[in-house]
Amino acid sequence: MAPLAATPVVEAHGARIPLIGLGTWDLRGRTCARMVDEALRLGYRHIDTAELYDNEREVGEGLRASGIERDEVFVTTKVWPSHFSPRELERAAKESLSRLRLTDVDLLLLHWPNPRIPLGETLGALCKVKRMGLARHIGVSNFTVALVEEAVALADEPLVCNQIEVHPFIDQAKVIAACRRHGLAIVAYSPVARGGVARDKVLARVAAAHGKSAAQVSLRFLVQRGIAVIPRTSRPQRLSENLAIFDFELTATEMVEIGRLAHRGGRIVDYAYSGSPDWD
Ligand SMILES: NC(=O)c1ccc[n+]([C@@H]2O[C@H](COP(=O)([O-])OP(=O)(O)OC[C@H]3O[C@@H](n4cnc5c(N)ncnc54)[C@H](OP(=O)(O)O)[C@@H]3O)[C@@H](O)[C@H]2O)c1
Repeated sequence: MAPLAATPVVEAHGARIPLIGLGTWDLRGRTCARMVDEALRLGYRHIDTAELYDNEREVGEGLRASGIERDEVFVTTKVWPSHFSPRELERAAKESLSRLRLTDVDLLLLHWPNPRIPLGETLGALCKVKRMGLARHIGVSNFTVALVEEAVALADEPLVCNQIEVHPFIDQAKVIAACRRHGLAIVAYSPVARGGVARDKVLARVAAAHGKSAAQVSLRFLVQRGIAVIPRTSRPQRLSENLAIFDFELTATEMVEIGRLAHRGGRIVDYAYSGSPDWD
């Protein structure tokens, strides 16, 4: 079985985040455990979950079923914003670990910003949870440029990542630049635009030129820029397809052409969600 070193990684403040991981949102029960197990057997070394996904138990089951050593797999989970007060955050982190049946995760993220709780308090708790050894690294998700700047200034432990929506149809240049200024890696969610890339003519043409699929081109477009990707699939055959992105290279012209597909309205996950009253 391939060791972690065989998977290309992006480095950030000492974290080595495999460039390809399995997203697990919406994978439930036996399907989730089976997909995690299968992904790890195929060579994935990075699994993304969250307390919100209601599948941490099954992710843990898949990890154990695969027989892959714990230290070879990069496991990320996320704290939901309704648990951002310091006491709640620590409790939520411990509950995630108990569902996963792990003593620590590789990366613990704040899932979405929560404007109702002072960021400094939440980050203080997140840093404490790291110092307690419950998370090897910490980071954020869905943070804007302004919030990244604020978070970096407030945190007294390094933030290693901002997990955000990135695919060819959305321009995230500003937030990516802000993250890079502060050494945060980007982890791209919805990296195949929830299957939408398969309907794009430019991606189809570039894909045909390389003997690849549009989804593989979309993932390659991101990893070639050092952005980690966590595509989700419920189909075992697509696990191998999404992993086979390190044996070809897009030309500079193709990278520019794909970069031009970004447009207003290309976002999939509604950002207005970040003000959801359901969090309190
Ligand atoms: N931090 C956050 O707020 C946040 C938000 C959203 C997502 N995420 C994370 O990011 C992960 C990925 O994002 P996502 O689930 O929104 O979107 P995604 O990975 O872009 O798309 C998943 C969808 O694309 C299809 N798909 C997968 N591989 C494909 C391929 N090779 N060709 C064609 N279609 C393919 C899947 O269908 P099949 O199942 O039929 O293959 C599924 O319906 C999530 O699972 C979650 O872990 C995080």
